[in-house]
Amino acid sequence: MKEKIEQIKNASIKEISDAKDQKNLQDIKVKYLGKKGELTTVLRGMGGLSAEERPLIGKLVNEVRDLLEEKFAEKEKLLEVEALKERLRTENIDVTEPSKKIKLGSIHPITQIINEVEEIFLGMGYQIADGPEVEKTFYNFDQLNAPADHPSRDLQDTFYITDDIILRSQTSPVQARVMEKQKPPIKIICPGTVYRSDTVDATHSPVFHQVEGLVVDKNIAMTDLKGTLEMFAKKCLGENTKIRFRPHHFPFTEPSAEADVSCFVCGGKGCKVCKGEGWIELLGCGMVHPNVLRNCGIDPEEYTGFAFGFGVERIAMAKFGIEDMRLLFENDVRFLKQF
Ligand code: DAH
Repeated sequence: MKEKIEQIKNASIKEISDAKDQKNLQDIKVKYLGKKGELTTVLRGMGGLSAEERPLIGKLVNEVRDLLEEKFAEKEKLLEVEALKERLRTENIDVTEPSKKIKLGSIHPITQIINEVEEIFLGMGYQIADGPEVEKTFYNFDQLNAPADHPSRDLQDTFYITDDIILRSQTSPVQARVMEKQKPPIKIICPGTVYRSDTVDATHSPVFHQVEGLVVDKNIAMTDLKGTLEMFAKKCLGENTKIRFRPHHFPFTEPSAEADVSCFVCGGKGCKVCKGEGWIELLGCGMVHPNVLRNCGIDPEEYTGFAFGFGVERIAMAKFGIEDMRLLFENDVRFLKQF
């Protein structure tokens, strides 16, 4: 039996050292040390041995098993290192290979204009104010001196949610909200989305954007308004831009005006962009009506102010040469990424 054990020992040591890979080694382990393995079988056959022989053979088998366990562990480590080396050799990753390009969007022309307008007014010391798009008729109309029979309150013009809640038809209600909260001096602009019950066409959309401006302080005069808007027009549309004022009417300003800018495409000669006029209508403006100041808790005897409001789409269309407003809302990236 001793020889048998010796033979198993020598054969298994050789096989272990010849094992090609981890799988192969595992098979060899099962072959010798597994439940039905050769060495285990020897142990089982020990019943037929004499009482003297049994402990000797038992000891020998245990020694051989310990030795083999050791050999297996050594070889296992060796094969593991080799397997890793092989993986490193075959699975090399090229970290310099360019990755798939992620398609980046671009800043929407409307957002671009709003950003630019904000920059200009921040540079003139204005703050940016904000207000709700779902607004009370009280702020959108009453506080702004627009009486109950004002045409802009008509169902045909404004989206009503309830009798006294609407989608704001202008950014002007933010004026009233700011004046109620803040004591003069006030110097704000408010860019935002507004809603009107208009049918979509090349120059109309039920959803569009405005920028509102409001300045209230002591001794604010019409000249401040003109100077401010002229400065804005030059910065936004080019140094050579001229501005002109035409009398107009808004309930919340008195006097009120509309301002036009000289066409920045043809310089005033007349072209497609200005429709041959040489001028482009830019905005509404005026001196804040005393009633509005009073409504918002500001004494019109002590303070005066000016306000203005303009449409962002109109500027974007003129500036980027976009002829159809619908293109601004279709969100076709092929169109948008041109700007
Ligand atoms: N809210 C006016 C509109 O939507 C624009 C406007 C005109 C705003 C005159 C003003 C202003 O602040 O003073 O047509």
